[in-house]
Amino acid sequence: MSVRIYNETQLDYIRQAGTILHETLEMLQTHIVSGVKTKELDRLAEEFIKKNNADAPCKGYKGYPASICSSINEELIHGIPSNRKISNGDIISIDIVVRYKDYHADATRSFIVGSTEEKNKKLLEVAEKSFFEGIKYARENFYISDISKSIQQYVEQNGFSVIRDFVGHGVGRNMHEEPEIPNFFNGTKGTRLQKGMVLAIEPMIAEGKPEIKVMPDGWTIVMKDSKNSAHYENTIIITDKEAEIVT
Ligand code: MF3
Ligand code: CO
Repeated sequence: MSVRIYNETQLDYIRQAGTILHETLEMLQTHIVSGVKTKELDRLAEEFIKKNNADAPCKGYKGYPASICSSINEELIHGIPSNRKISNGDIISIDIVVRYKDYHADATRSFIVGSTEEKNKKLLEVAEKSFFEGIKYARENFYISDISKSIQQYVEQNGFSVIRDFVGHGVGRNMHEEPEIPNFFNGTKGTRLQKGMVLAIEPMIAEGKPEIKVMPDGWTIVMKDSKNSAHYENTIIITDKEAEIVT
């Protein structure tokens, strides 16, 4: 398989999925308050997505039991919503995939519950800003590694580390497609970007060392050193100008 190029009709479905996903995250943000169970966030997201004639394909994906991923503090990704209540000072990353007419969009935001220390705010800010550093190169005739290098450089220059074990990806007809989009330079140039490609670019960064481990639930990925992590992700379309962010 190679990297798919989407036509305007297909891109419109992806844009629609992206709009629903963006609105879902906005709705959830108002519920990110101390004492709320992550299960409740999952329920609210699922209900909102379904009301918009779309669905959340994470549920059932390789047996994953929920519609969203909610990862708290040292949990990096794929945290399963549960009866755990979020509390003041927590960093919670909400990762959602929306499918609309068989086309997908994927996005993540990290939020602070209530108030927190300056260094946690910085961690979130660097995750978000590194995405925007990366997409400066998400243009026709640049390479995936141009995006990767830019993200890595920005994160490391701000004193944080980038995770090596998980990467961004193509998205569209499927939740995960080629190419892989590392948040670090892995020694290869990678795919040359062309108009009509759709990419999920998702810096995953840590306060401490980049090593991760899988929890016994088989899903939750946590930082080995138990330090905080943050994740920021959008789905973008490569155009003949700047990348178009659909989420
Ligand atoms: N956005 C997540 C990812 O790209 C989707 C996870 S769905 C799950 O890994 F089922 F694996 F949770
Ligand atoms: Co993703």
